[in-house]
Amino acid sequence: MNHSHPAADVSWWRTAVVYQVYPRSFSDSNADGIGDIEGLRSRLPYLADLGIDAIWLSPFYPSPLADGGYDIADYRDVDSRLGCLADFDALTHDAHGLAIKIIVDIVPNHTSERHPWFEQALRAAPGSAARDRYIFRDGTGPDGKDPPSDWRSHFGGSAWDQIPDGQWYCHLFTREQPDLNWGNEEVRQYFVNTLRFWANRGVDGFRIDVAHSLAKDLSEPLRSQPHLDSQLPLDGTDPLYDREEVHTIYEEWRKVFDEYDPPRMAVAETWHPTSSRTYRYARPTELGQVFDFSLLKCSWDRDQLIGVIRRSIEDHRDAGGGLTWVLSSHDEPRHPSRFALPADVRPEAWLAGNGASPTIDPKMAKRRGRAATLMMLALPGSAYLYQGEELGLLEVADLPVESLQDPTWERSGGVLKGRDGCRVPLPWTRAGSSFGFGGNGSWLPQPDGFGDDSVEAQDGIGGSCLEMYKEALRLRKKLQTRDDTLDWLNTEDGDVLHFRRSNGWECVVNFSGTLKPLPHGTVLISSQPLHPLGIPGDSTLWTRRDP
Ligand code: GLC
Ligand code: CA
Repeated sequence: MNHSHPAADVSWWRTAVVYQVYPRSFSDSNADGIGDIEGLRSRLPYLADLGIDAIWLSPFYPSPLADGGYDIADYRDVDSRLGCLADFDALTHDAHGLAIKIIVDIVPNHTSERHPWFEQALRAAPGSAARDRYIFRDGTGPDGKDPPSDWRSHFGGSAWDQIPDGQWYCHLFTREQPDLNWGNEEVRQYFVNTLRFWANRGVDGFRIDVAHSLAKDLSEPLRSQPHLDSQLPLDGTDPLYDREEVHTIYEEWRKVFDEYDPPRMAVAETWHPTSSRTYRYARPTELGQVFDFSLLKCSWDRDQLIGVIRRSIEDHRDAGGGLTWVLSSHDEPRHPSRFALPADVRPEAWLAGNGASPTIDPKMAKRRGRAATLMMLALPGSAYLYQGEELGLLEVADLPVESLQDPTWERSGGVLKGRDGCRVPLPWTRAGSSFGFGGNGSWLPQPDGFGDDSVEAQDGIGGSCLEMYKEALRLRKKLQTRDDTLDWLNTEDGDVLHFRRSNGWECVVNFSGTLKPLPHGTVLISSQPLHPLGIPGDSTLWTRRDP
């Protein structure tokens, strides 16, 4: 099926299962230790067999890798270590041939310091047009030696860095990621044309990086904002995040997406203290979809999960956009490990201790990981999977510090290990150098025993995590409906999360350590081997009753 097939469903993304590929860690075709586009293309049959609808490809653009590719030096090319535009076109072509859509990552808040625009800005004078594409300011205090404001970088420290002529530039992420000035018309046009560049090459959609941070209040004097985006006012008046004006950018982009047939889809990455403002980015006049990270921020706690599911369904309805769910990504510790942590242990703290305090029981982690996935896949809307979760991979919490690449490590002064533990290259085979990832090592070390979780060790093996994902995705294709009403059942049992969809599809999660009664109806799939007397602890079951 081709993406421009006349009968194409223009709202395919509303119920899609999207699989995130972090290209440097997926599959390495030329044994240089770095995953690449050709490696991904060679694995498309695997992804088709898994049963996903689309791939979201994290940045593959030329990048000095100060932030794992989210520092882009050229928005319209492929990094030569990952391939070339012809490889990208071949990937899109082959993916479409297997009915898999392609979503690319757009990073509009900042460029790399190696982007020609920033190089020009450094050479140009204060107040020049070249500097106006970014956020340059004079310093404060005696001789301008203090930063222009108290804004903070997400990776630690000030959001300002000084350049030799004395001016400062703003970077909400690393110093190698200067923030763009979205009040500048040339910047706006450049991104509109970048969207067209990729849409013309046949991509089906876009993932918009830190979509809530583009519009900033840059009026003088700059306002104080010592917080990151988890502590914001909820009225659109913060100087940096989630301002009302940011929505006009996406209204403009929607017009670009709608130039295409079928219209291109988009999904925003945004962070808010609560989900109440999240779904505004998904309004049909804007991006259509936004990541809802509320499951990702939960512990393995029945009441918490029910609470966020209820709220997300309501919030998304008010906005009229798509509903989404996410358990894992390239930015968060893998969900089986997270759900095995006691509720009062923050994942960052656990990682800082190399996963040793407390240690987690890998069996329990994998059980909960599978149970959580089956729960998510039974919810209305679209689900985002992260590469390797279908293998039940755990967070690699004990990466030696010398191997860490995430800027978080350095910018936090060696306190926070950052996100490398979920970016370890995938194991494809039981044994061999880099477990089949590439053949000659990998850019992050893989743990001993990784081969036991490999594709080779699980493919076609009944009861494996990989086979559970395949079966669940196959069933979901038949069962998923656009109807988003959920009937909550069995609510008096505090250890059980149980809901029914309008077509009689039921999902029960047992959070207790004891068996829970099987619901009526035909059992469709179970995250653990079926027990004749009931649903085992830490497991999820799907059944179906005639509506
Ligand atoms: C997003 C990305 C993350 C990156 C940051 C800066 O949060 O998901 O990986 O570090 O934006 O671009
Ligand atoms: Ca390679």
